[in-house]
Amino acid sequence: RYKTTAFPKGFLWGGATSASQIEGSWNTDGKGISIADVLTKGSKTTERVCSSNLNKKYEYPSHDAIRFYDYYKEDIKLFAEAGFKCYRMSISWTRIFPNGDEEEANKEGIEFYRNIFEECRNYNIEPIVTISHYEMPLYLSKKYNGWTDRKVIDCYVKYAKYIIDKFHSYVKYWITFNEINCLTIPLGTVYGGGMLLDEKALLPEKNNAEERFQCLHHQFLASAVVSQYTHEEYSDIKIGCMIAYYCTYPYSCHPEDMLLAQKHHQVHNLFCLDVQIKGKYPSYIDRYFKENGIKVKVDKSDKDILKKGTVDFCGISYYFSNCISATTSLEPAMGNLMKGSKNPYLKNSEWGWQIDPVGLRYTLNDIYDRYNVPIMVLENGLGARDTIEQNSVHDEYRIEYLREHIGSISEAYNDGVDVIAYTIWGCIDLISVSTGEMSKRYGIIYVDKNDDDTGTYKRIKKDSFYWYKNVIVSNGEHL
Ligand code: BG6
Repeated sequence: RYKTTAFPKGFLWGGATSASQIEGSWNTDGKGISIADVLTKGSKTTERVCSSNLNKKYEYPSHDAIRFYDYYKEDIKLFAEAGFKCYRMSISWTRIFPNGDEEEANKEGIEFYRNIFEECRNYNIEPIVTISHYEMPLYLSKKYNGWTDRKVIDCYVKYAKYIIDKFHSYVKYWITFNEINCLTIPLGTVYGGGMLLDEKALLPEKNNAEERFQCLHHQFLASAVVSQYTHEEYSDIKIGCMIAYYCTYPYSCHPEDMLLAQKHHQVHNLFCLDVQIKGKYPSYIDRYFKENGIKVKVDKSDKDILKKGTVDFCGISYYFSNCISATTSLEPAMGNLMKGSKNPYLKNSEWGWQIDPVGLRYTLNDIYDRYNVPIMVLENGLGARDTIEQNSVHDEYRIEYLREHIGSISEAYNDGVDVIAYTIWGCIDLISVSTGEMSKRYGIIYVDKNDDDTGTYKRIKKDSFYWYKNVIVSNGEHL
């Protein structure tokens, strides 16, 4: 358990969402179709399917989501009432460039985000904006097989520069890709890589590691070009990378378990951070590539691009931890993209994610020791079922989860880690990425919408709303 509740002055408290999980209005006002719009509704037991022909037999949860497109004023007002200092959100690429390669941007898309930033400004909420959060334009996905083709870099760079030029006076913190390291694992194929697996679950049947790491290389370059451009044009803007930190413990002190955990950590966590923060490919990746038959096509100029395009801060998502063993076969444990094995010391959420607040302190120390850059905890929270009782939700379980994790961040801060922001994931209930459900709720604000699409879309403040408000007002002291 945490011992301190101290936080730095000016700490950015807030919440986080992504466009496709909240906006709805998937094909109105000029918006194009993104890969998120062709993912079907799943559940804890039914996998989501990528169905790019929009088959009538499926439901597509992003099409309506929680109708933030219509409710954004009301929702941002609620964020302000909770005392948010920042709001991490993403811009939908296909609202700005519907196919991803147009000459002209879609004016209505620009207007929508300008309105959001104006609202945030009215309430002194600092926007932290993700440029690409699992929603590549479907047109580009089909034309180029996702990020496997180098030509996609130009499309992304054009889009990113365009929105940064348009909104630089509103937005000081930009993140180039959400959880870029998802491409180190097969489940990242569609989400991060934008490669379509038509009418199939989201796991590729064949080993596509080479394609995934090629996509990743292109994203590294795209991020680096945008980072360099922004640093040259706007000295007050900070660019961040972001990974899903897969906190993975060796199951035992057996040396082979220790080594496996270290190798796992290098490939799935450190690799992306090394490239984006240090500006070059680390030496350990060569052997991994060799042993896994991966050959990444690289141009002569790439080294220089990566070196010049490093980022200023590191963003992470952190939800759970898992174990790994080279010597013992263990009971499997779940996670959003990365699965692992059960840890006998931890309890798990209803969706099987193991709850480990101490792991967050460990994570923050681990990252800061190696990179010495400011860190933002951009996603953290508990997906759980909520029940409405007389217009309120008594979510003590969520408060407990958040309290312990925030306490752990304070510990890390006292360990000397430069942690500057914390945003609760899905601060307002939204569509789950891994299952497409509404019933897996993260919010401190309840949205009256159910898995079967019934509901009034009414927003209700949960008990955690009032609790978090108090945390923010006291700068973390009243946990
Ligand atoms: C992260 C994603 O992987 O986890 C979010 O960046 C996602 O978009 C979050 O919603 C929680 O996962 P899930 O599957 O519960 O929605």
